[in-house]
Amino acid sequence: MMATKSELTQQLGVVAGFDDPRVELEQYRTPPELAADLVHTADLQGDIEGQTVFDLGCGTGMLALAAALRGPKAVVGVDLDPDPLATARQNEKRVATKTPVSWVRGDATRLPLSAPDHTTVLMNPPFGAQKGNKHADRAFLEQTADVATVSYSIHNTGSAEFVESFAADNGGTVTHAFAAEFDVPRTFSFHTEDTQVLDVELFRIEWQ
Ligand SMILES: C[S@@+](CC[C@H](N)C(=O)[O-])C[C@H]1O[C@@H](n2cnc3c(N)ncnc32)[C@H](O)[C@@H]1O
Repeated sequence: MMATKSELTQQLGVVAGFDDPRVELEQYRTPPELAADLVHTADLQGDIEGQTVFDLGCGTGMLALAAALRGPKAVVGVDLDPDPLATARQNEKRVATKTPVSWVRGDATRLPLSAPDHTTVLMNPPFGAQKGNKHADRAFLEQTADVATVSYSIHNTGSAEFVESFAADNGGTVTHAFAAEFDVPRTFSFHTEDTQVLDVELFRIEWQ
């Protein structure tokens, strides 16, 4: 029987975040609760077990490892920065998954490897919202449209129209959308609190 969402959340508690986050790469970790929510939902849809899962912009591996704990064929995490990838390797040992996981240094918007059939993409890409670089997530969606059968992506709130029209123009259909919020360190906001609540939207897209 499938493990529960709260069991997955608990297992992900050992996944360390960024030691020295680089603001320009929007390096913050997805919280275990949200990663578990996303992957549990994907698992119920049949999008994890037996599939190949790509985590684009994997950071320290939170989404990749959440998926790895649900019996996919293989998992591939891709990030530009080698430092969080080193942490991701340690996190892989901590969660003690039996799934084969590869950590690849590279640009997730120009994937340095090909994806097999039945690839599920998971991603929490940079939004670019604070740098006048609106929809930095577009390049991630473009790559996703090329390689994914189905994808789950996290975007900043207010992205629904953009994501839906991007999908419609690129052979995709948004089948699920839900809202979530989580705390991010203030380095990633203009606020003076220690943390700021980030409002996000998650989308499941089927690609042709
Ligand atoms: C918001 S963080 C999410 C990290 C991780 N996926 C998680 O959910 O905890 C975005 C990640 O994308 C990575 N990144 C940014 N631009 C990238 C690119 N062009 N190619 C690969 N990774 C990139 C950053 O280094 C960072 O690790």
